[in-house]
Amino acid sequence: VQGYWGYKKCSIYVFKGERKLMKEKLTVLIGEKEIQSRVEKLAAEISESYKGESLLVVGILRGAIMFMVDLLKKLEINDVQIDFMAVSSYGSSTVSSGKINIKKDLSESIEGRNVLIVEDIIDTGNTLYHLIEYLKKDNPKSVKLCTLFDKPERREKEVPVDWVGFDIPNKFIVGYGLDYAQRYRNLPYIAELAFIEDEDEK
Ligand code: IMP
Ligand code: MG
Repeated sequence: VQGYWGYKKCSIYVFKGERKLMKEKLTVLIGEKEIQSRVEKLAAEISESYKGESLLVVGILRGAIMFMVDLLKKLEINDVQIDFMAVSSYGSSTVSSGKINIKKDLSESIEGRNVLIVEDIIDTGNTLYHLIEYLKKDNPKSVKLCTLFDKPERREKEVPVDWVGFDIPNKFIVGYGLDYAQRYRNLPYIAELAFIEDEDEK
């Protein structure tokens, strides 16, 4: 479906006091096969780097689920365990910047363990920056970070990223775990989401 685009749902937006019906336009940026072959390469590099070691893979809910599952299936490491966290960043504009809100914490201690954080996308870097600081307090043996997508242009906080799947220009993307208003996570490909005025529905 490379190059495919189509209209999905309609959304209502209030713009300058005017109520507008907008179409959500999806344009495929990265197809399913391209994602799968990149994930395979990442899995090979990660397996090589943890040779003879045990590994705890920590997926960041909910966006990382697709990537985490596909990556896990391709890892060639004997002792792999998994856990999940759910976090939200307060962002950089609020007073409480510098903290993250942990909605779901790890199930076990990571003391002395090799931790690999698996994330969908790094944007400003705020979420991951604070998450790594938080995890290091538990004295893990190592903390590494693998993200499938990276928007380096948008970075506000320096984050040590060990593996990146794809660099993404400053566009809003959905699919393969990534959402807009909790939708589109189920798409097997990555699409750019744009909003266009719905001329027919006026
Ligand atoms: P940040 O790096 O703290 O700014 O936030 C990263 C989080 O923002 C990711 O885990 C996503 O949940 C979300 N996010 C950033 N860019 C996008 C995008 O293009 N599509 C969907 N979610 C995004
Ligand atoms: Mg999200």
